[in-house]
Amino acid sequence: MKCVAKTQAQLSARTDCAVIGVYDKAELTKDGKALDKTLKGRLSRIVASGDFAGSIGDTLLIPDVGTGPVARVLLVGLGTRASWNLRAYRRAALAAMQALLKCAARDACVYLSTESVEGVDAYYRARLLTQALAQASYRIPSLKSGRKPAPPALTQITLVAHTPAELGAVQTGIAHGEAIGTGSALTRDLANLPANVCTPTYLATTAKSMARTHRSIRTTVLAEPALKRLGMGSFLSVTRGTAEPARLIVMEYRGGKKGAAPTALVGKGVTFDTGGISLKDPGGMDEMKFDMTGAAAVFGTIKALAAIKAPINVVGIVPACENMPGSRATKPGDIVTSMSGLTIEVLNTDAEGRLILCDALTYSRRFKPTAVIDIATLTGACVVALGQHVSGMMSNDDTLAQNLLSAGRRSADPCWQLPLSEEYQEQLKSNFADMANVAGRDGGAITAGCFLWKFTQGLKWAHLDIAGSAYVTGANKGSTGRPVALLVDYLLSAKP
Ligand code: BES
Ligand code: MN
Ligand code: ZN
Repeated sequence: MKCVAKTQAQLSARTDCAVIGVYDKAELTKDGKALDKTLKGRLSRIVASGDFAGSIGDTLLIPDVGTGPVARVLLVGLGTRASWNLRAYRRAALAAMQALLKCAARDACVYLSTESVEGVDAYYRARLLTQALAQASYRIPSLKSGRKPAPPALTQITLVAHTPAELGAVQTGIAHGEAIGTGSALTRDLANLPANVCTPTYLATTAKSMARTHRSIRTTVLAEPALKRLGMGSFLSVTRGTAEPARLIVMEYRGGKKGAAPTALVGKGVTFDTGGISLKDPGGMDEMKFDMTGAAAVFGTIKALAAIKAPINVVGIVPACENMPGSRATKPGDIVTSMSGLTIEVLNTDAEGRLILCDALTYSRRFKPTAVIDIATLTGACVVALGQHVSGMMSNDDTLAQNLLSAGRRSADPCWQLPLSEEYQEQLKSNFADMANVAGRDGGAITAGCFLWKFTQGLKWAHLDIAGSAYVTGANKGSTGRPVALLVDYLLSAKP
């Protein structure tokens, strides 16, 4: 699928499908009104008839608009003017792309790119449209037997730029949107694969193959003996109950100045979380194959940065293992020593994410990073607190937190800040070790963040809990590819 940018003047005479926005109460957009004139009032008659009211996310395909330069028109509901914002824009964009991919048009001219929306410019509008196209085109790597569905007819989409001055911004928006699209697709692929395919070894192989494809990426994989030498007793305590070998995957993306300090991304890579000896309930346990989405988001983000050739340095650090209740598994009450030297009493083996992340955070220090961001499906409590629409975010640095909040807002991949404070830390006290790995039910997302906080002294650090945003459940069960858009946006724009 190709995405191109054109100014109104450069538009070719013919298109298979013009995509036109309609506000609630049957109000055509400016571009819609112009096309309506060419089509001798056909569009205004349709909206006036009540057949298409313009509710947000609704679409109507008009397959035959006559013999003119436009073969079809796809009307897309934008909702009311009062509720028109970036979220509505994203919703309309996704609905438009889904409908386009279903129809027989081979090319399309999308006018939504000219519809202004508060808080973002032409670059973001083009980027969001391109991301929406990638999201709508995504197909789960199918392990179903039988015939594969036919590919869509659509091969090219033109995004319209208002003015020649806007053309460059739209082109960059398309390039970045495509990169974020392929990055998120990698994240979704890895997360959607079953845990008997997507093992720590599989993740390591993927990271190595990324380094072969992109000269800007260098991958190093550490196996268990090396982790033992590093003193990663906390990470290793999680993998004790499984026969599947653990890996620490390090991916260095070098697009910036040689020697310039990188940003570190640390992703939770639990390829399956049974809970260990503190075994989970069976209902929905299959979803714990998604417990490596933090790791997958690190992969997807680095892939996107390499495609963009972003002029920055980033290091991705992924501790990958399974959490299984084997005969050598860590038992509740066992005490382990982390790489930092702090000892941890493992009161609940199901709180394993923090145990692998704390050692990876300590490991990140060797890169002298300007900032460290960990990404993890860390707590069910975060899903209870925030649901699926925003990721939880905690940080020990206000500027970093603000930059992540803005990046999330701009990229329509939002996060929401939760507090960190000493009072919560107290809940992690242990009678037998420096700390316990759990702190009771209350404020579970925050106390998990507080646990990690203890390992980040002197670092500018933020934690993204994506337990709710990483995947959807129910009939459309699958990975969302979040928070790749947020991370790429942050890395392209923010310091620290
Ligand atoms: N991977 C889970 C968190 C999770 C739960 C992610 C639901 C997505 C959906 C994590 O390892 C876990 O089990 N956390 C425990 C922590 C508790 C024992 C303190 C939880 O949330 O129950
Ligand atoms: Mn767990
Ligand atoms: Zn987990």
